[in-house]
Amino acid sequence: MTTRSAVITGLGKALPRRKVSNDDLSQWVDTSDEWIRSHTGIENRYLVSGDESCSSLAIEASRAALKNAGIDPEDIGMVVAATSTPDYKSFPSTASLIQEGLGIPAAGAFDLAAACSGFAYGLETARSFINAGSCDHVLVVGAEVLSSIVNWKDRNTCVLFGDGAGAAVVSVSSASVSSTEEERGLQFSRMRSEGSGWDALIVKAGGSRFPLTSESIEKVENPGDLYLAMDGRRVYEFAVRVICETITELMDTAGISKDELDWIVPHQANYRIIQAASKRLGIPLNRFFMNVQHYGNTSAATIPMALHDMSEQNLLKKDQKIITVGFGGGLSYGGNYIVW
Ligand code: ACO
Repeated sequence: MTTRSAVITGLGKALPRRKVSNDDLSQWVDTSDEWIRSHTGIENRYLVSGDESCSSLAIEASRAALKNAGIDPEDIGMVVAATSTPDYKSFPSTASLIQEGLGIPAAGAFDLAAACSGFAYGLETARSFINAGSCDHVLVVGAEVLSSIVNWKDRNTCVLFGDGAGAAVVSVSSASVSSTEEERGLQFSRMRSEGSGWDALIVKAGGSRFPLTSESIEKVENPGDLYLAMDGRRVYEFAVRVICETITELMDTAGISKDELDWIVPHQANYRIIQAASKRLGIPLNRFFMNVQHYGNTSAATIPMALHDMSEQNLLKKDQKIITVGFGGGLSYGGNYIVW
């Protein structure tokens, strides 16, 4: 039988020019390299400066992904941009800016708001479009400028985040698949949300509930409401729990054991979350790809940036069984099962 399976054919990454170490940060806030490393594993992050923006990073990462896939901009039928920090609050979408920046003549384009789970949701969105026959190539981008919403006076949060973008081209692979042959590519996903945790990670002001105007900004009682706020302990407990649930459910659906799983590519929030999940699952830590030390938490961008770095390091091999897992604001979570 002929199936339209969806395969990742290209990956790209973009970082801002300015690298900021933990020591640099400790000049701005009361923190230390020792505290940040020991609590999060983070050593450096990159922050935008000058004319760099969410869309400029996204365009650079996408250009690299198209080149890696060996396709032209006009081949893209849909642009999905997962971001919580778009260039413009309401519209245009960052996806439309990416389309324009790449010179894609005619394609659908929309932003996907699922916080740090955005890229995992985006891959499943691409797979669905391809399976349905709506398009042959989907560009899925995770891009963030978290430095624009971080409270630089709050040491509990500002040390955790960075800016960056990762992109993947997801393409149709019209393969003849016999019942004995294993299909390759994006197999299936799990997408979930726990709306009861909506206030554990939040930017309170600036949306339609608390619009920011020159009058309203004067009345904001807590300046922290203008920025990203996080209940760290609650997010930590949620994250460890849903990473374990998601991986277990995806392995069960795939009918594979822990030993058959080659890689887990988790959202890079912090090292201790991944360490705790590895221990709870009984899956060795070296099977979880980690690069949070280099970039900090770049929200929707962490998984595509991780896949890109794995590819550059030649860690991704044909037939490997890979699970991605994202978790974040919403509280949303989800993951994808991929046979590379
Ligand atoms: N530098 C120095 N000290 C700090 C810093 C800092 N940057 N931040 C907090 N502290 C202090 C606190 O003030 C506190 O001091 P106190 O005991 O005198 O009050 C102390 O360190 C311990 O604070 P805790 O919050 O108890 O630290 P904990 O060990 O729980 O770790 C952390 C904090 C790392 C944020 C943890 O809660 C966590 O991992 N949460 C998950 C949240 C996360 O990673 N979110 C990422 C974004 S969301 C996402 O991507 C899903």
